[in-house]
Amino acid sequence: MSKVIVTGGAGYIGSHTCVRLIKMGYTPVIIDNLSNTSIDNIKGVESITNKKLNYYEIDCCFAKKLDMIIKKENGIIGAIHFAAYKSVEESVRLPEKYFKNNLKSLESLLDVMQSNNLNNLIFSSSCTVYGSPDSLPVDENAPFKKAESPYGETKQLCEKLIEKSTLFSVCLRYFNPIGSHKSGLIGDRSADKPANLIPIICEVATGKREKLVINGNDYNTKDGTCVRDYIHVEDLAIAHINALEYCIKNKNKSVFNIGTGQGLSVTEAVRIFEECNNVKLNIEFGPRRSGDVSEIYSDTKKSNEFLNWKAKRTVKEAFQSAYFWEKRKILSKL
Ligand code: UD1
Repeated sequence: MSKVIVTGGAGYIGSHTCVRLIKMGYTPVIIDNLSNTSIDNIKGVESITNKKLNYYEIDCCFAKKLDMIIKKENGIIGAIHFAAYKSVEESVRLPEKYFKNNLKSLESLLDVMQSNNLNNLIFSSSCTVYGSPDSLPVDENAPFKKAESPYGETKQLCEKLIEKSTLFSVCLRYFNPIGSHKSGLIGDRSADKPANLIPIICEVATGKREKLVINGNDYNTKDGTCVRDYIHVEDLAIAHINALEYCIKNKNKSVFNIGTGQGLSVTEAVRIFEECNNVKLNIEFGPRRSGDVSEIYSDTKKSNEFLNWKAKRTVKEAFQSAYFWEKRKILSKL
């Protein structure tokens, strides 16, 4: 059976992708140091798929250990690289941590793949590489603008490193991933205090947090609040399998946007969340958050055509699954 290295496979997007890989007949070989997630995501994937996982608790920055795994496992056809820190706010406070870890983990994977003649790398990138785009929807030809955070800069640098490597690769530029698997068994288990909109809304909805402060309502957008493209993590997971198969078939280097193509303002998101989950959120308008771009959403033509991929789940489904996950987390701690 075809094996695929999944670094960061115990994380939020990584665990959802492992479920999908298994469903599509692949065997993930997971490399994760559990630095910002929990073994419960591994158990969750096992219980959803009814398969024992091939899992190594190892830091992806250690090339020697990666090399040992690749040599030990037979039949690896490629790698999906998620292992990285992802908090924009923390990256501003601790930029060195982000440059060291996010670049080092990719460098060691690239070295080991190249020295073992292993091709086909799928990289977890972000729409943050576009900075504040000049036109919308943003397509893959838009230039890298000044990164809004050290986190964004690491994604730009990683894409450049991949471009310079000899590997066949696909960089997937995610828009705003949200939601969770319908089982409620896997999700974002990072220790960071939530800083993203939907996890914060969920905490307000359950009463864990008093209110949502909307970061600015004086932007030049449809209602003054920032506009984003929220993509269900299960749809996002599927894109990785399509990207892997595309990479194997086309033997080149490509980049693709992965989003819904639809821009939703913060206040629209609040209203839809309230409606579909039948809750009332306590909100307040506050000042702008530094580093926020006013509006970004994806042009998905390229991924629709070449990856044969399109987001299928609605934003309501995504918001419902996000709320379901939040409630499950509370229950499991009781
Ligand atoms: C950013 C990155 C994205 C990255 C993600 C990971 C950009 C363009 N996007 O997403 O690539 O994957 O972080 O963390 O850099 N908001 C509030 N109140 C809150 C929280 C958020 O109003 O309490 C607003 C934000 O100001 C923003 C919107 O909600 O306008 C979405 O914010 P968030 O969920 O943090 O995602 P991004 O910053 O878009």
